[in-house]
Amino acid sequence: WEMFADDIAAILDLKRRHRAVILAHNYQTPEIFHCVADIRGDSLALARDAQGLDADVIVMAGVHFMAETAKMMNPDKTVLIPSLQAGCSLADSITAADVRALKRAHPGVPVVTYVNSTADVKAESDICCTSANARHIVESLGVPRVIMIPDEFLAQNVQRDTGVEIITWAGHCEVHERFTPQEIRDWRRDNPGVAVLAHPECPPGVVAEADFSGSTAAMSDFVARGAHDRVLLVTECSMSDNLAAAHPAIDFVRPCNLCPHMKRITLPAIRHALESLTHEVTIPDHLLAGGRRAVERMLAA
Ligand code: 13P
Ligand code: SF4
Repeated sequence: WEMFADDIAAILDLKRRHRAVILAHNYQTPEIFHCVADIRGDSLALARDAQGLDADVIVMAGVHFMAETAKMMNPDKTVLIPSLQAGCSLADSITAADVRALKRAHPGVPVVTYVNSTADVKAESDICCTSANARHIVESLGVPRVIMIPDEFLAQNVQRDTGVEIITWAGHCEVHERFTPQEIRDWRRDNPGVAVLAHPECPPGVVAEADFSGSTAAMSDFVARGAHDRVLLVTECSMSDNLAAAHPAIDFVRPCNLCPHMKRITLPAIRHALESLTHEVTIPDHLLAGGRRAVERMLAA
C-alpha cells in the first residue's frame, strides 16, 4: 500500500477542502474501494445513496452512466468523473432514437431500462432497473410484455425467471459476454466444492451453470454469509480482490475479465479530478426530469 500513500493522503485532504464524497462501484480497485471511498456498492446502492448527499462535490469512481445518475439525483451539486473515457459497452449500444423506434414498433408496451444507459435513453423510458431489482421491477408492472433495454442477456435471464415476455435489444456487457458455460464446467472440475456465482449480465447458458446469480452486492452478501470457503465470482476482476481483502479466510478462484472502463479510474485520476474539479458531468434540462422520473420510479417500486 506504500506506493498509494501519497495519493491517498492528498485525496483525503482534498475531500475535506471541497466537501466532497467519493462513490465507488464494486469493480473499483481495492486501493480506491477500501482507502478513499465514502459510499461503496452496486449500481442500485450508488443510485439510491446518491440522493440528497450532504456534500458540495460528488466524485464518481465508476463509469459515466453512474455519474449521470448521481447528477440526476443531485442536480445542484458538482458531479465529477475522473476519466471521460470511463464508458460502458451497454450504454453505448443504444440511442434515444432507437428507443423511440422501439416504442413506435410496440405501442403501449412499457420500457424498462437498465441503469447502464445514457441520460437521454433513460429520459425515453418508463422505469429503470438494475441487476439487483430487474425481476422485481418487471413483475411490479403487472403486464404480460415489456421492452427491456439494452442488455439482451439480463433480459433473457429475467424472462426465464418471471415468465413475462420480453422484447430485447442486442446490447451486451463486454466483460460478462466473454464467459462461456464450458469455462464454468472446467473451473468446477479443477476446483472441487467451489461455489459459482454469476452476474446476470452473463449469457443465460453461463448463469445456468452457476449456483447463484445476482448483482455485485448480492454476490457480496452471499460471500459474507460465510457458508462457502471457496468461491468463484463470474464477473469483473476487482470484485474478487475487494472481497478477498474483506474475507481473508475464503479462497477466491480468480479467473476474471477486466472492465477497461472501470480501470480508467485510478487514484491519480481521482486526485486530479479533485485538484482541478474536472470532469464535470452535466445533463441538459430537457433530459433531467424524464431521466430522474425513471430512476425515482425504480427506487419507489
Ligand atoms: P451491479 O453492480 O449493479 O451488479 O452492476 C454491474 C455492472 O456491470 C455495473 O457496470
Ligand atoms: Fe459496462 Fe460491463 Fe464495464 Fe459494467 S462491467 S461498466 S456493464 S462494460
